[in-house]
Amino acid sequence: MNSFILHGDICWPADGRLKAMENAYAICVDGISRGVFPVIPEQYAGLPTEEAAGQLIIPGMVDLHVHAPQYSFNGLGMDLELLDWLKAYAFPEEARYRDIGYAEKAYGLFVRDLQASATTRACIFATVHRDATELLMRMLDATGLSTFVGKINMDRDAPEDLREANAYISAFDTFGWLNDINGKLQYTRPILTPRFLPSCSDTLLNELREVLHAYDLPVQSHLSENPGEVELVKRLFPQAAFYGDGYDAYDMFGSAGKTIMAHCIYSVPEEVECLRKNGVFVAHCPASNMNLCSGIAPVRRYLNRGIRVGLGTDVAGGESLSVFRAIANAIQVSKLYWRLADQNCAPLTFDEAFEMATVRGGEFFGKVGSLEEGYEFDAVVIRDESLNSATRRTLHERLERAVYRDATGLITAKYCQGRKVWSV
Ligand code: GUN
Ligand code: FE
Repeated sequence: MNSFILHGDICWPADGRLKAMENAYAICVDGISRGVFPVIPEQYAGLPTEEAAGQLIIPGMVDLHVHAPQYSFNGLGMDLELLDWLKAYAFPEEARYRDIGYAEKAYGLFVRDLQASATTRACIFATVHRDATELLMRMLDATGLSTFVGKINMDRDAPEDLREANAYISAFDTFGWLNDINGKLQYTRPILTPRFLPSCSDTLLNELREVLHAYDLPVQSHLSENPGEVELVKRLFPQAAFYGDGYDAYDMFGSAGKTIMAHCIYSVPEEVECLRKNGVFVAHCPASNMNLCSGIAPVRRYLNRGIRVGLGTDVAGGESLSVFRAIANAIQVSKLYWRLADQNCAPLTFDEAFEMATVRGGEFFGKVGSLEEGYEFDAVVIRDESLNSATRRTLHERLERAVYRDATGLITAKYCQGRKVWSV
């Protein structure tokens, strides 16, 4: 059912602010929003109604950065820094996905919980393993969520049982993966995923450039996340003018297609300018940045510069799959940044952080993240009455409380491109 009316208390971003309308009607025709109205416009009167009277309705959340295989250990190792945590937790766990039986079990849990979350769109890292990555993509496709999934490329600086044997095998496997899935999936698309510069040799990056152009792929990776990592990149890529230049030299920094770079905490001015010029999406992942002692990204400065910024959970660097948590965390760390680092960087407002979780990140997927006319119809319905206090709250206040108190467990229905992808 891709054409219907959704009735409830609706809150959505539009023109740089949040609009709110109680007892309203969101119209979906063929998966596209026709807008939100106080009464049903006559031309839509014949459409069926999905009743959510008294419930909160918002656009679906966009998670620009999440590692599916790491969900199986989220919440562990949160007393380590990035590079030690990768060695002690992430790499050993990811090596397990060589076993397709293990992958099926572990990815099953990830997909189940993603489906029940507020997320309708996600950009996902898998592992280096082709079979397990294809399995994850099939599982995700069956949910109806709209996702990008990447088979990771890494040919160095990782344990032997995880690292790919060499650059040519890594590229060959990537072609094989792309050929295997070509034309088979409806809602799950591939994205080129060199893990981060330390795990990619120059030869590998050169090979991946061929893959990128042959398949016209988007790209996702990590950038300037942690002081230890940034130092490592300087040693491994002495010819790069800055971290991102190492990707840019191989067309993987927005010049050839849509690109997401996670973190961008230690981006030098030339790198920031390159992010802006090339329209790279920054995936701001505040929970992960706290957990792995990485730091705080200067998001206010990025927004002022006109850089695209969305939010990522970065599970399992981030401990929660909930983008609601990421919104609250983004505001919280922006306050610390303002207080402790730079008084010119005003803290993020709730509306700004909500925009990052919806329209700003959603732009990576097209016209996504709002219920304004013309947007793809992604919506989440939340029965928030149990959060209500004795005081009557405005719709905007109800939304703030639902986000800060992580109302994931109160979601009653979810739609992606007009498809009902989850309901209780
Ligand atoms: N950099 C390279 N790999 C990873 C990862 O798995 N998580 C995070 N947070 N950073 C990375
Ligand atoms: Fe990450």
